[in-house]
Formats: sequence, C-alpha cells, structure tokens
Amino acid sequence: MSESAKTSGLYQPEQPRLSGVERRKHALDTPFVVVLTPRSILTAVFSLGAAAFLSYSCFTSKHAEQLPKPMLEEVGRLPFMGYNTWNAYHCDINETLIRETADNVVKLGLADVGYNYVNIDDCYSERNRSDSGDIVANAKRFPSGMRNLTDYIHSLGLKAGIYGDSGWFTCALYPGSFQNEERDARLFNVEWGFDLLKYDNCAVPFDEIIKEGMVGKFTRMANAIRDVASESGRPPMLYSLCQWGREEPWLWARELGQTWRSTTDIDDSWRSVAGIINQNSFVAWANNFYGYNDMDILEVGNGGLNFEESKTHFTAWALMKSPLLIGTHLASATKETLSILKNKEIIAINQDPVVGTAVTPFRWGINPDWTYNSTHPAQYWSGKSENGTIFMLINVLSESADMSFNLTESPWIRAGRQYAVRDLWTHTENGTAIRSFTARAVPPHGVVALLLKDDGDEPEGTQPPCQREEWCMDKNGTRLDDIGFEPW
Ligand code: GAL
Repeated sequence: MSESAKTSGLYQPEQPRLSGVERRKHALDTPFVVVLTPRSILTAVFSLGAAAFLSYSCFTSKHAEQLPKPMLEEVGRLPFMGYNTWNAYHCDINETLIRETADNVVKLGLADVGYNYVNIDDCYSERNRSDSGDIVANAKRFPSGMRNLTDYIHSLGLKAGIYGDSGWFTCALYPGSFQNEERDARLFNVEWGFDLLKYDNCAVPFDEIIKEGMVGKFTRMANAIRDVASESGRPPMLYSLCQWGREEPWLWARELGQTWRSTTDIDDSWRSVAGIINQNSFVAWANNFYGYNDMDILEVGNGGLNFEESKTHFTAWALMKSPLLIGTHLASATKETLSILKNKEIIAINQDPVVGTAVTPFRWGINPDWTYNSTHPAQYWSGKSENGTIFMLINVLSESADMSFNLTESPWIRAGRQYAVRDLWTHTENGTAIRSFTARAVPPHGVVALLLKDDGDEPEGTQPPCQREEWCMDKNGTRLDDIGFEPW
C-alpha cells in the first residue's frame, strides 16, 4: 500500500475475515449510531445534491444509455424485416387490407423466413387531431380502431409498425408530430400497441420556430420514445428515421434510432434501383448492429423490374444490410416473386447474428473506382459473414457479360488459401476458387451472390508467388519483377 493511497483515504484498514453468517450477525449486533456534527450535516447535504445532479444528468444524456440493456437489446440489433403498405397501396389502405396482408405474411411462409413486422404507412388518420389533441384513426377506413388491429397482428405472432412525421404534417398532409412528440409516442406505443415508428421529414417548421435543424427535430422523437418506454416498462418502439439521406444521417442517426433512410424514394424501375445502389455504395461502411442505412421499401413483385433485375434489387438490399420491407400486393404475388423474397441463403446474410457489417465495393468495374454514377453503380462487392466471405457481382450493362475478380481484391480473403464457392441463387456448390473466379454470362442487370469458404492451402507452388505483386519479395531480397513477373 503506498503512502499516498493511505493519506488520500483510498486505504481501508484490513477487517477481520468473517463468514457470511458471522457477517450478518455482526451487522445485527452493531448498533447504528448517527453523530450529528456541523461537518456531517454539510457532507450529507453535499452528497444528496451530488446524487440528485448525477441522476438528472444521466436521465437527460444520450437516450441509448437510459434504458435497461435488455430493453435496448430487443430492438433493431439486426436490420428489421417485414411488410410496408406504401409501395403497393400508397394512401389506399384500410383495416381489412392490413389484416389480409398480415394473414398472407403468415400463410405464404414469409413470417417463417423472418418477415415479422406489418407496417402501416401514411394516410391512416383523420385530417385533424381530436379536441383533446390526439391523432385519430380514420373512422371510415379503420372503424375498429388501431388497438384492435395491432392486437390482431400480434395474435399472429407478428409485430406492428406505424408512420408519423417530424414536422407539422405528414407527406400526405395528415397530422405530424412536431411539438406533440411525447403525446404521439405514447399513443402509438402504449395506447395503440405499435412496436415500430417510421418517422418522416415533411412540413418542416420554419427555422425561427424550430431553431434546431434536422438532428434536433429527430432527437425530439427519440427522446419521446425513450421516455415513454421507461414510463411503461415496454420495449421502446424501433425508431426508423425517414429523411431520405439528407444531412448525412449515417453520421448521427445511430445515436437516435436503429435505421435511417439513406437515399431518395424508390420507384418501380431499374433506373431507380441502380441509382439507390450507387448512392448507398458510398455509405454502406456505416452499417453495423443497431444502426443501418435503409434503402427504402422493396419493389419486388410490382412489375417494373424483370426477374433478373428483381433478384439484383433484393440481393443488393439484403447484402448491404438494409431493412427488408415487402411492398407488393401479397394476395397476387407470383411464385417468382415469392421465390426471391424467400431466398433463405440471401436472408441469412442480411440477418447474420455474428457480423453486422455490409458488403462494400472493392472495384467499381466499368467505371474508375469511387465514380458516382447512378446508371452504372459499382459492380464488384465483398463483405464478411458468419460463414465466410460474401461476393456480390452486379452486371450494370444491358447485355450479358462475364465477370472476373482476383480473390485477394477482397480484404476478407487470405492469400495462399483456396476457397469453396457456394452460389446463393442456384443453391449449388460451384467448385473451388484458386486465386480468381469468373462468373460466365451474367444476365443484363443480373446479379451473382457467392459465399466463399476457406478450403485449405492453395496447391503448393501456385505461381506467381504472391497474388498481390506490389512489394512482394523473397526473403533474400529478390523482388518479384527481378525473377520475371510483371511488376505491379
Ligand atoms: C415519403 C417516404 C415514403 C412514404 C411517403 C408517405 O417521404 O419516403 O416512403 O412514407 O413519404 O407520404
């Protein structure tokens, strides 16, 4: 024990060792005496003040630290999967349709592969709040009320999501939640029973009123969600921010919610899908557990994309760890549509419990690396997964093409090893890749998704001695180019 520890009061003189029973007895036998001196009174007042200040500052600091860990761990660790009404129906929604949709999510086996949220988008309410200030479910289209609907959704083993807006109105001009955040969070979560809130960015209040900007506007609802959850003891609503990638949400939204839209609205066309892939390629690095770029609701099944394009769309969303929200009329979904949405091997990457990061481009392909091109996004992508290295190849051309890569172009590959190749669309083993891999005749706008598993050392003597030739050297100092190989 150092002298300074003794004098600073950190030093506790050794107590005799007592057994548990002895300790309890000792505690009972020892009288509890409070000696009131001016000094002890001052100390007590000071400690009480410090305790009050500490609890206040804990309560008002970052929301993620407020809730007990098990509550936080219940929402948004992985990208969420489910259904959203917007792409298929826009404002044309009602309770019967939503019940049928929830039924179909179960009947078609979508719940079994992970789609467990049924989310109502814009246009479910009356145009005005009630006299007491609450948002009111539209009486014609939701006559049984929202609680009934969420009870039904929950009875199917699913979760329910609702939509709101951070401004005065939603994008379709229904009531927004600005200055009513806490009231609305309570209504959505506690009274109506919703588990998720998609929160939009329309009807932004004038600066002189808001004086906070985008981050502040979305923080208001994050705080409300947190406060309502601590009050009710229920898990917080999953908070899905929707501000179309404005003001770089990947830099701040993780502090507030579990997912944020990183791009503009999708539409049912290859042009839109390619544009979103391009936008997201520059921010896919930001994904990890509890915080994901949302590339918007899927258009698979809506008719504007052919089979190959739909596969590419689904693969890019899943492997870039976007939430996966089905947005098509399920009652008439074709076998092809369902076979895409239910590809378990692709979904397994999206829902990887061990690796939260996304695929990112390692080579843009027909464009120089880092080119921003909304019709010709990056083509060669890789990422880590629980079971090996993922490769995604996108043919951005309008004719079929062979696509090749050297394995060590991906940082997740070990030089000197060979890899067993699993095709995540044909569901077949495609041999062993040594050094490189070529996918033949990838269809126009088509995709190849591969899982490469380490399969031991590559054959001895495989030439050249380094796959990456830059500064490759023998231990005697001979450079690769000195022994006849092309220098890097
Ligand atoms: C947009 C949003 C869409 C949909 C729509 C509803 O801002 O990006 O996904 O929610 O509002 O009005």
